[in-house]
Amino acid sequence: MVTARRQLIPWRAAGTRAEMRRNADEVVRDTGWVFNNQTGAKLTLEEFVHTGDVEVDIYLDRLGWNSFASGATMLEIGSGIGRMTSAFSRKFAVTIATDVDAAFLERCRETVSRFGRVGALRTVHIADGSTISVDDSSIDAVFSYITLQHCKASDALGLTSEAFRIVKPGGYVALNYRTWVPADLLLVPAGVVMRQLWRIPVVGARLSQWRWSTRFGWQANRLDPKRVLNLLEASGIDLDDVAILHHPGKPQKPVSYRGTTVVQRDLDVANKSHWWLVARSH
Ligand SMILES: C[S@@+](CC[C@H](N)C(=O)[O-])C[C@H]1O[C@@H](n2cnc3c(N)ncnc32)[C@H](O)[C@@H]1O
Repeated sequence: MVTARRQLIPWRAAGTRAEMRRNADEVVRDTGWVFNNQTGAKLTLEEFVHTGDVEVDIYLDRLGWNSFASGATMLEIGSGIGRMTSAFSRKFAVTIATDVDAAFLERCRETVSRFGRVGALRTVHIADGSTISVDDSSIDAVFSYITLQHCKASDALGLTSEAFRIVKPGGYVALNYRTWVPADLLLVPAGVVMRQLWRIPVVGARLSQWRWSTRFGWQANRLDPKRVLNLLEASGIDLDDVAILHHPGKPQKPVSYRGTTVVQRDLDVANKSHWWLVARSH
């Protein structure tokens, strides 16, 4: 049952705060920490969306997705209030924004109506945190950024399988994960403690609305390429052109998929603690 999923509480709390604000500009000023760790009276939704515009240009270029975007349906896992979704909606024929929080999706629609092409937007609520209510083989490209690290590992793996279920044969998937870095020696135990505290009635609900506690609590999982690729292999999912993208000069441990070592490539803009799985569905 969704209410029993304490892991989802902080996002719901942030969504409720987003819902209480009069407009998305206020959401960015007061709860921008949900996305970019910044708050302040001078922040605007426009600036926030601009950071997404810049990143979408970079990622579509590096992924080689510009060649097909204008005729394609793309699905973004974890859109939040639409920082990148506005740009996606201008580039793709149809953009489907998905998120665990329905209030974020409403704000996302507001954001896209101001800065993107709202007529090209659909929203789909990931109510249980791991299932995407979209038909099999119906999407040309699935993208996810700074989301799969912020949910339980089992949800991140579930959403990974879902990405390959919904993408069309020959379609593209690019999913961003977070792996281990030295600071995790402190961050990961702190996150475990914080998530236990969230279980305490009343106190938990309050804690989950504060920036400092959520920063710890959201550091929810670390997944390495082996775990993700083992899952896909065990599920019998056929991949083509599979590769791991990583911070320049920081490859992940070698990993194989169906007996072949997976290609690894530098991605100039990748965070040191991030890696990307890119692949085409067979
Ligand atoms: C840090 S925000 C990133 C939003 C957006 N990708 C961006 O780059 O601006 C993470 C988002 O993931 C969403 N999220 C967290 N857990 C999720 C889950 N299990 N399924 C779907 N979305 C989830 C949160 O609600 C939040 O909107």
